[in-house]
Amino acid sequence: MYNNPYRGDFPIFDDTGLIYFDSAATSQKPQSVIDAMRKYYEHANANPHRGLYSLSAEATRLYERGREAFASFINAGDPRQIVFLRNATEALNLLAISYGASVLAPDDEVVIPISEHHSNLVPWQQVCKRTGARLVYLYTNEKGGIEDKEMEKITARTKIVSFAQVGNVFGLALPAEKIITKAHAVGAVAIVDCAQSISHMPVDVKALDCDFAVFSSHKMFGPTGIGMLYGKKEMLEKLAPLLTGGDMIEYVSEQETTFAEIPQRFEAGTQDVAGVVGLTSAIAYIRALGYPAIEKWEGELTSYCLEKLSVLPWVVVYGEAEATGRRFPLITFGVEGIHPHDVATLLDTEGVAVRAGHHCAQPLMRHLGVQATCRVSLSVYNSKEEIDTLVDALVRVRRIFGYAD
Ligand SMILES: Cc1ncc(COP(=O)(O)O)c(C=O)c1O
Repeated sequence: MYNNPYRGDFPIFDDTGLIYFDSAATSQKPQSVIDAMRKYYEHANANPHRGLYSLSAEATRLYERGREAFASFINAGDPRQIVFLRNATEALNLLAISYGASVLAPDDEVVIPISEHHSNLVPWQQVCKRTGARLVYLYTNEKGGIEDKEMEKITARTKIVSFAQVGNVFGLALPAEKIITKAHAVGAVAIVDCAQSISHMPVDVKALDCDFAVFSSHKMFGPTGIGMLYGKKEMLEKLAPLLTGGDMIEYVSEQETTFAEIPQRFEAGTQDVAGVVGLTSAIAYIRALGYPAIEKWEGELTSYCLEKLSVLPWVVVYGEAEATGRRFPLITFGVEGIHPHDVATLLDTEGVAVRAGHHCAQPLMRHLGVQATCRVSLSVYNSKEEIDTLVDALVRVRRIFGYAD
């Protein structure tokens, strides 16, 4: 039924006619990832870094192998520059609390684009409130891009610049290298949120020269419960741990504790080894597909979807690829006269899952003058036939609401 070479890798599609267009929220998982995690629990489960017996050593090996695999995947070099956390949100909170709170003073500034996900906004807003620093926004133009004039807001007062490499509303890439260079030129630290980029394009943290970067396993075919923080060694070494307790210490006396080296210092308590095993398998899956094939297929789907939507005069697509040179497989739109929640609910009755709401980007919604939008986010397992179904279903939704066209 579907002309797609990858769909068969994902068991969730086996016995359903599910059309899943919400991969930006979380991607579906290939069988290989599910199998790797099951195999871990069946054959290797133990508490890592603690036991002196071989099963624990095996769990430790698998966990650290995951760190090496991810470090190599993003070209980080030394794997100690990778910290495993629960999700990208936790990584950004660690940076805001451990780094932000320690360097920010009244009148310092943190700069973020208005298009940021709440995960890269609320932690900075809260730390600015605590420290008296100011949160400064780079406003997007009507196409979703950031003009050079806005970039001038990065000044000597700026201490931190944090931005998403690919936004979760416009699906456009910001000029990462340019922003990072500008941040460094004024002595600020540059943080890149790669949660939406890494499943669609290779990320090379050395080439980017960012100080920190955050990632989310569940958006790149891996399991939920694992987030990754990359930090340059000298930067990570400056951070105080956020959580304390078991596994992150060097020595504990009644009144004092010295902390372990990086990255263990940030990984308090028993870690999600099965999650890291799943992530390792997800990396292998992406490598086996290869980014050129992913980009080709997703690019074709995105162009097809945009072309199909463009013939519906009552569909408004937000953001234009012209603004940044490339649109990723994520299309945010409105249907004139119908609330996005109604659109999504009616599409669901036809087995089509799209996201509707503020997409965890309320300040951006206000900037765009809307309360909510619909969002279709595509992945390798989607097909043109599914997009045809979406477009036909949108026409039926309009009719249900009494529109003739
Ligand atoms: C750009 C961006 N950053 C951060 C996040 C938060 O990711 P997580 O769910 O892993 O905390 C999301 C989730 O949608 C996102 O789209």
